[in-house]
Amino acid sequence: MIPLSLAKIAEITGGTAHGADAGRTVTGPVVIDSRAVRPGALFVAVRGERSDGHDFAAAAVASGAAGVLAERPPDGVPAVVVDDVVKALGVLAREVVARLPDATVIGVTGSSGKTSTKDLIAQLMARRGPTVAPVGSFNNEIGHPLTALRADEDTRYLVLEYSARGIGHIAYLTEVAPPRIGVVLNVGTAHIGEFGSQEMVARAKGELVEALPPGGTAILNADDPLVRTMAARTPARIVTFGRAPDATVRATEEWLDEAGRPRFSLVTPEGTLPVSMRLHGSHTVGNALAAAAAARETGMPLHEITEALSEATTVSRWRMEVGERDDGVTIVNDAYNANPESVRAALDALRHMARGSGAGPRRAYAVLAEMAELGSASVTEHEKIGQYAARCGLAGLIVVGRNAAPLLEGAKQVGSWTGECVQVDDVGAAVAALNERLRPQDVVLVKGSRVARLERVAQALLDDSRDDRPRGDA
Ligand SMILES: Nc1ncnc2c1ncn2[C@@H]1O[C@H](COP(=O)(O)OP(=O)(O)OP(=O)(O)O)[C@@H](O)[C@H]1O
Ligand SMILES: [Mg+2]
Repeated sequence: MIPLSLAKIAEITGGTAHGADAGRTVTGPVVIDSRAVRPGALFVAVRGERSDGHDFAAAAVASGAAGVLAERPPDGVPAVVVDDVVKALGVLAREVVARLPDATVIGVTGSSGKTSTKDLIAQLMARRGPTVAPVGSFNNEIGHPLTALRADEDTRYLVLEYSARGIGHIAYLTEVAPPRIGVVLNVGTAHIGEFGSQEMVARAKGELVEALPPGGTAILNADDPLVRTMAARTPARIVTFGRAPDATVRATEEWLDEAGRPRFSLVTPEGTLPVSMRLHGSHTVGNALAAAAAARETGMPLHEITEALSEATTVSRWRMEVGERDDGVTIVNDAYNANPESVRAALDALRHMARGSGAGPRRAYAVLAEMAELGSASVTEHEKIGQYAARCGLAGLIVVGRNAAPLLEGAKQVGSWTGECVQVDDVGAAVAALNERLRPQDVVLVKGSRVARLERVAQALLDDSRDDRPRGDA
């Protein structure tokens, strides 16, 4: 972060500096985990459900923290005391972002694909200059300012994910880090239980473009009517992306290779060049177009954009992570989260991968768990996805957990489907069911909401004992 004295931090946050060392300078990082303290850090004492950061204030300073941001003066350590540390963190981040001499803030929102697109944009921008982006989905009212506070004088690009569970959330995050380029990917049904309707989701996501300055750019999905109409809600210039023929940045000649990786021509006002993605699933094309449009807005030349998109890899874990076993079984671990749109996208990719190539078609299994937070639409949405899965011609659908049972009901409604339906209670039973059934060359998709933690199925099938936390996800 930009170096600031504790006294200055007190002034910015409206707090009071305690201890004799108000002149001490914080150089960063700003952290909420005392184990992440480095010399010069600011330790933010957050009261969590399980623990209270104030209990770790002394340890943080002993490890080299320059001071503590706290709600009560910790004994004997330099501190800035404020009424509400989370609010103060937001205020501090806003001030630091405002002082960045050379940084463009690029914001991404949408119902699905924020993290994936943020990771793509960050990979593109990192070629152009020092880039700061959150790890994983570290994007709530704490993660967002903490990420922004990682920026310093050298930062050229700050790429952030703006997520909402209600009206006003994104507006708040834009106050913390005001974007100049704002990308809206889609308006789906994720968290619709909390929002009430898709119109409310659209209202919330549009707060990102409302916050853009007149000199900024709103990058809108031309293929999503609820996103397209957001053009009326921003003073910024509009750039569109998508498959629509009138989109500013679009994809043509699109196809998937036998592993389900998109190939397409990227069409821009500056010209057309081919992209061969390493990511899986046609839904990643939209994310790539959005990333291309954002990069183009910063002045990145087309050939560099297509080269970077073709080299980009999955950064945050469990988003269409494809693993191969020695027996030729392919495991698609998309278990980070699930909502109706992302499950359809993943099933499309699975169906495509099952088509196979020279060796002929492969058997496809889907292991699906609940899609959480769908409110009153839940049963119907699960039934529809069950039907969709059955129409994909799966060899088997393994449904994990009671809450996901309507998936099975939906699948059974598809009379033409000859695959097998299995309901299991937990991850262990899902793995056992697959172990009984899988044969060489089969393809398995594993997907469910975060609560289901279905990555454990994928890991068991791959015998993958790697760290099972998403990288940096809160
Ligand atoms: N454009 C898209 N359309 C539909 N599904 C997508 C899209 N992009 C990514 N996905 C899928 O959606 C899931 C979540 O992806 P990602 O983490 O990028 O989204 P997110 O918007 O950040 O989600 P969250 O709100 O949970 O942070 C993954 O399974 C991913 O494969
Ligand atoms: Mg995310």
